[in-house]
Amino acid sequence: MKIVVGITGASGVVYGIRLLEVLKERDIADTHLIVSESAKQIISIETEYELEEIYALASHVYDNSDFTTALSSGSVRHDGAMIAPCSMKTLGCIASGISTTLITRVAEVCLKEGRKLVIVPRETPLSLIHLENMVTVKKAGTILLPASPAFYHEPKTVRDMVDFIVARALDVFGIELEAKKENDLIKRWKRL
Ligand SMILES: Cc1cc2nc3c(=O)[nH]c(=O)nc-3n(C[C@H](O)[C@H](O)[C@H](O)COP(=O)(O)O)c2cc1C
Repeated sequence: MKIVVGITGASGVVYGIRLLEVLKERDIADTHLIVSESAKQIISIETEYELEEIYALASHVYDNSDFTTALSSGSVRHDGAMIAPCSMKTLGCIASGISTTLITRVAEVCLKEGRKLVIVPRETPLSLIHLENMVTVKKAGTILLPASPAFYHEPKTVRDMVDFIVARALDVFGIELEAKKENDLIKRWKRL
């Protein structure tokens, strides 16, 4: 499996970092990482991670301004992308079809090729413009997975709350099946 992970400049960059950690720890997927310039600033504000440590979690790393990479083209196959967290700016660009960064181009390619695109938007409160952009990308086929963790699994740590969102994002990719075992990052409400 090949998954593109985009980290943009919203609060909650830890969501994207944890996704990379889980995919690497379990050797589940080749990860193709793009970190926006704003995300780099927020990583240093919100986390203890050095950028190089985050890059080391990914199989491949791309510059967000480099459109010459394989990821720019729909002819290059991968299994989809997750943008976690997704800023309202990046959301707005995707909703408008304006691909001025590699992350927004990857999103555009996913939508035009019918590939999975998981967006983890992070903003509060939401303006009408944010909501309308969400409706637009939803209609276009995106899976919107807001950074709003549940509490029924009785999280004890921030990690537990982050893992809830990460597990739901991995569910979208059927990764528990792929790994031939239950995605045990979180305690689920009930089992069938
Ligand atoms: C500390 C900090 C936190 C921010 N949090 C958010 C946020 O939660 N959501 C959001 O949409 N923008 C947030 N922003 C603003 C974005 O970083 C800004 O709009 C930027 O242009 C996004 O660019 P990008 O989408 O290319 O990463 C934040 C900025 C800073 C410095």
